[in-house]
Amino acid sequence: MGSGIAAMAAGHGLPVLLVDLDQYVLTQTRSRIDQHLRHAQLLSALPADRAPAAVRTTTSIHDTEGAIAVIEAITEQVDLKRLALTEVSQVIAPGTPLVSNTSGIPIDELAEGLPRSADLAGIHFMNPAYLINTVEVIQGPRTAPEIMAAVMRLLEELDRRVIVVQDAPGFVTSRLLHPMLNDAARIVSAGIASVEATDLLMQDCLGHPTGPLRTADLIGLDNLADSLTALYERTGEERFRPCELLLDKVEKGQLGRKSGQGFYKYGGDFS
Ligand SMILES: NC(=O)c1ccc[n+]([C@@H]2O[C@H](COP(=O)([O-])OP(=O)(O)OC[C@H]3O[C@@H](n4cnc5c(N)ncnc54)[C@H](O)[C@@H]3O)[C@@H](O)[C@H]2O)c1
Repeated sequence: MGSGIAAMAAGHGLPVLLVDLDQYVLTQTRSRIDQHLRHAQLLSALPADRAPAAVRTTTSIHDTEGAIAVIEAITEQVDLKRLALTEVSQVIAPGTPLVSNTSGIPIDELAEGLPRSADLAGIHFMNPAYLINTVEVIQGPRTAPEIMAAVMRLLEELDRRVIVVQDAPGFVTSRLLHPMLNDAARIVSAGIASVEATDLLMQDCLGHPTGPLRTADLIGLDNLADSLTALYERTGEERFRPCELLLDKVEKGQLGRKSGQGFYKYGGDFS
């Protein structure tokens, strides 16, 4: 998600600093962002009147000093997110919008214990962020109105269409989509239909653009399992418990497109 969000912002003329713990990820990401930018330009998804801004990369969160906004898009684990958000909020100026791209951890839960919890809001960018221009925005109970106003200005500059929802596990999109993807995996696991048949039925009969299992591969099966777990832990609803087939694939490193194998096999550059 980080590379897609970075490409979208840079493509709209906003300079980006991409932070990751892993230097190898950052090296890979540079060429991925260039590919995203070319793809977005081909599909006229970027403004023609602005040249793409620079994207810099770093492994040091301290380099975020002076940022006009910070978008956190790290692994879907509440403790890791809280730690990263706390660290970055000690570096950026008070009143700078601090945004989480979580798929479903409530914003208020992430705000708990932050030095300036009112500075945190949620923007749920979809995948790929540089092509899908509608975003789900979450105002947590503690999010300051000035922060929401700044988030709206930022999204306007990024030409995003905003839909604001209340804070809740999975918000709207993950709450509806993720159990459907989980059920599709359960159908395959129970031998009711193959991966291909399940996707084709959803595509051709019900108008789903890619099919649930191809969508799961695009999301990343590790992220999907983490997001489902986050939903299950917070709602207790069985439909959110990641199914065995999903967990098995994650265990085997079959993470979807990003690893070259998930429900489908992918060749070449998987990103
Ligand atoms: N994958 C999707 O389709 C999708 C869609 C919408 C939202 N999201 C959300 O976006 C976030 C990222 O998802 P993803 O699929 O890109 O995950 P990913 O696992 O592909 O990437 C996460 C990156 O975060 C880095 N990271 C981990 N801890 C860090 C830290 N403390 N500081 C800096 N970098 C750190 C990792 O090295 C990794 O490169 C998650 O919260 C996810 O739920 C994902």
